[in-house]
Amino acid sequence: MSFKEMDIENAYRILAPRPTIIVTTINKNGEINAAPFSFTMPVSMDPPLISFASVPSHHTYKNIMETEEFVVNIPGANILEQLWITGEKFPPGVNEIEKANLTQTDSLKVTPPKIKECVAAIECKVHWIKKAGDHDIIVGEVLHVGIKDNILKEGLLDVEKVKPVLHLGGVNFVIGDHLKKVGE
Ligand SMILES: Cc1cc2nc3c(=O)[nH]c(=O)nc-3n(C[C@H](O)[C@H](O)[C@H](O)COP(=O)(O)O)c2cc1C
Repeated sequence: MSFKEMDIENAYRILAPRPTIIVTTINKNGEINAAPFSFTMPVSMDPPLISFASVPSHHTYKNIMETEEFVVNIPGANILEQLWITGEKFPPGVNEIEKANLTQTDSLKVTPPKIKECVAAIECKVHWIKKAGDHDIIVGEVLHVGIKDNILKEGLLDVEKVKPVLHLGGVNFVIGDHLKKVGE
């Protein structure tokens, strides 16, 4: 079977489904922010570095430019609807953790809080930020990783238990081997 051409600007749509994270940040006035991101990947094991890409207009990005810290929270499918709320457009200074009825709890090594309902939280300080087209890539050095009990099986994420949130695009997610639309 032959390949047919796809619009190049849609290449990201077939790099899917993508793990979805909720990034928590704080600005210099102490205002807390949370938002979902699915352009994310690990980039180094030694030192431990992870990354995600954000458009520079996001509050997440602006907060990170101010305080150089962030937390990557790993959600399970049980909080998909709340995750979606954190992605809504709120005015600056609005705490999406509260808007989504989630709970914030102190981080150990950084000032932004982590989200209690997530299965893990990776605390990071900025390693570097670089422009990449309409997004900027934010690479964070991992300072601390907190995980809930029993989310690992033989050292790997127990996907049957956690049911990671995988983003396909728009309101469409893959949970286990099922398609799930937010709100359905
Ligand atoms: C599942 C999902 C994944 C998203 N992934 C990204 C992403 O990788 N990069 C990005 O810039 N925005 C992404 N967004 C959009 C932002 O989360 C959204 O615009 C949010 O309002 C930004 O919030 P903030 O301004 O409080 O940072 C995603 C949204 C959703 C729902």
